[in-house]
Amino acid sequence: MKFGHFDDKNYEYVITNYNTPLPWINYFGQDGFFSLMSNTCGGYMFYKDAKLRRITRFRYNNVPRDYGGRYYYINDGGTIWNPGFLPVKTKLDSYKCRHGLGYTVFESEKNNLKCELLCFVPLKDLCEINQITLTNESKETKKITLHGVIEWCLWNAVDDQTNFQRNWNIGEVEIDDTTIYHKTEYRERRDHYAFFHTNLKHDGFDSDLDTFIGLYNSWVDPDAVKNAKSFNSKASGWSPIASHMFNIELKPGESKTIIFQTGYVENPEDEKFESMHVINKKRAYELQQKYQTKEQVLKAFEELKNKWVLLLSTLHVESDNEKFDRMVNIWNQYQCMVTFNMSRSASYYESGTGRGMGFRDSCQDLLGFLHLIPEKSRERIKDIASIQFEDGSTYHQYQPLTKRGNADIGGGFNDDPLWLIAAVSQYIKETGDYTILNDPTPFNNKEGSERPLIDHLRASMNYIITHKGPHGLPLIGRADWNDCLNLNCFSKTPGESFQTASNFESGKAESVFIAGMFVLYGKEFATILKNIGEDKESANILNEVNKVEEATVKYGWDGEWFVRAYDAFSNKVGSHECEDGQIFVEPQGFCTMARIGEKQGFGKKALDSVEKILTNDYGVEILHPCYKEYHIELGEVSSYPMGYKENGSVFCHNNPWIVVANTVIGNNERAFDVYRRNCPAYLEEVSEIHKTEPYIYSQTIAGRDAQNYGEAKNSWLTGTASWTMYAASQAILGIKPDYAGLMIDPHLPKEIKHASVRRVFRGVTYNIEINNKATGKYQMLVENKTINGNIIPYEKSDKVINVTVNI
Ligand code: BGC
Ligand code: NOJ
Repeated sequence: MKFGHFDDKNYEYVITNYNTPLPWINYFGQDGFFSLMSNTCGGYMFYKDAKLRRITRFRYNNVPRDYGGRYYYINDGGTIWNPGFLPVKTKLDSYKCRHGLGYTVFESEKNNLKCELLCFVPLKDLCEINQITLTNESKETKKITLHGVIEWCLWNAVDDQTNFQRNWNIGEVEIDDTTIYHKTEYRERRDHYAFFHTNLKHDGFDSDLDTFIGLYNSWVDPDAVKNAKSFNSKASGWSPIASHMFNIELKPGESKTIIFQTGYVENPEDEKFESMHVINKKRAYELQQKYQTKEQVLKAFEELKNKWVLLLSTLHVESDNEKFDRMVNIWNQYQCMVTFNMSRSASYYESGTGRGMGFRDSCQDLLGFLHLIPEKSRERIKDIASIQFEDGSTYHQYQPLTKRGNADIGGGFNDDPLWLIAAVSQYIKETGDYTILNDPTPFNNKEGSERPLIDHLRASMNYIITHKGPHGLPLIGRADWNDCLNLNCFSKTPGESFQTASNFESGKAESVFIAGMFVLYGKEFATILKNIGEDKESANILNEVNKVEEATVKYGWDGEWFVRAYDAFSNKVGSHECEDGQIFVEPQGFCTMARIGEKQGFGKKALDSVEKILTNDYGVEILHPCYKEYHIELGEVSSYPMGYKENGSVFCHNNPWIVVANTVIGNNERAFDVYRRNCPAYLEEVSEIHKTEPYIYSQTIAGRDAQNYGEAKNSWLTGTASWTMYAASQAILGIKPDYAGLMIDPHLPKEIKHASVRRVFRGVTYNIEINNKATGKYQMLVENKTINGNIIPYEKSDKVINVTVNI
């Protein structure tokens, strides 16, 4: 069942039934001011860091699930309704929620009153605009009250939800005819405040939650709204809100537009106050002036839309598969950009109060947006590498506001260092710019410890080389990519974090997955070294790669697939010898991509096993059989009920590894088959089962052993986005940035007979026509001249370069 449809021309998903199986959300913002917006107008706003600088409040784990947002209440002669359906839940005569790129529009109607609500964060300003237009389509004059309301969060989102004995005393606001300023803690150490402004003078206001709602009511029936009035309450402590009320009279056919703006302002220390306790509003006024008219709003909105069109024109495909095109051109790239902004911090599944930016997560995310924002990617690489320690190990996360390593979680995830090589090599391939290797980059952010970035890569390699176990395979540490395979954790204490506890540091547990990574990215590093003339070091690295490759062939092969790991007692994990968890997907993907045991046909066999044992209707499950019992020696993986999360769901992140691996062994049909199984656009028709947004990848889809087989969770903030982007563009379409130029190495399935791709690469635009005649032969023509090999040699050019590839 569908709850809406794609509008590819306008780059939108249009939700037409508000009873979606879960909140279907969208993101706004790019430069510090960020918002989440659900299809019922729920969500929240923050500045840079969803934990430390939360602007509006969201009530987690609430009933209903999606509660807290920017709510517009329309009281039309006693009929009270919201354009986004919640909170009042009045049945609407018509409803559309158009989620676009960085904006959402609600188009709703009740009793011949039409409402259009346009919401977005402008490109350059720290604010969210909500422009509401009401049109009377009836034959009578209508007298309406409109209340627009948001609830402030007292900045630190964790403290806000926990420390009530203090927080219910500290809320402070300032109010004038058009604006409610939220200035809690501004008198003391904060240099920032927020405001909720309207372009017209309000007819009343409220800033105290309990007064606006009434202590025994809820957001469904606020006193102010029911009584079509405002109490003009001035918050002092408790829960400050901002509500503006308007009395509106509309003749038949008449419209009225009001612009609401939630803004964020920082003042320099010596300019904080206008007078005793009165905040300096100069910067707020400036920001407010920019969005006073419909024309100003429209201009900013057009700028935002144009920015996206331009950005996405970097890579654009037109093939004979509509779903593939829409994912590659619009939604997959968009999701990658959202992971650039959010990492794993703020979604409807990540509270924004837990994780900061992950080392491994952010490195992998780069693979999905490097082609779109190379300069920002370079900065990001620097931020990430700066939390690495001199020995090559690294903090696992950092907070976006401070950019410092997160001591609560610490380090010890032994795959982390290698992801840096994945990111940097991809950066060089995309930009051709080796100077990044010279960028002075500190270790653990210590002043004076700056070394050229290449030394960080050396440290990464060295860490793995010097941390191997009894079989010559890399030690796993706390965990590798699979955070739930905790082989040194041995936790017996309820609630103890599997991520940070190490109750039995065996010094023995090894990861075949890290071995695969080491071989793949070690070869990449050796190529980079060779390209910069470090031949000797390159050869040394290849020598180390060979050692790990040999160890993997010898100890990492189980007969039909790659072993997953060796536990603290050197027992195999992910082997036919095990009762449960006999096969894991991760090493099948990575070791095949790394071509380990290619001569012996390991990759082919491993991928046959993946198809036979792990593949279900919605993709490839992470392991099989699921663990039925808790295994103290394996950790969190066995803590999940069967079929969920790391215990046997389709953990979508590693499905694209199988797609890429299949193209490595030349199995194009199977590569596309795996791609299709969990592709959201293909699952749109079964939204009632899949449940999460049909335009966005989710982290997991419950596996065959789960009660709710096929149900997805954790949409948006997942490495699935970048890896699928990589798989679709670089493996299936085969448009692959390489050191010397753009490689075109398509692995299209038979059903895609033709693809026209526009790709902007290092400032040059290529129009690439791929004709898939399944001949098994390869031919490339650049400007009608046949080229040997599959790389278009890079040459700067202002002209569009026409390329034809026949396969
Ligand atoms: C989840 C993992 C996640 C880890 C770290 C675990 O509970 O299952 O997917 O990587 O927490 O946040
Ligand atoms: C989600 C985490 O963000 C990621 O770092 C990890 O690799 C996967 N879960 C698998 O456990």
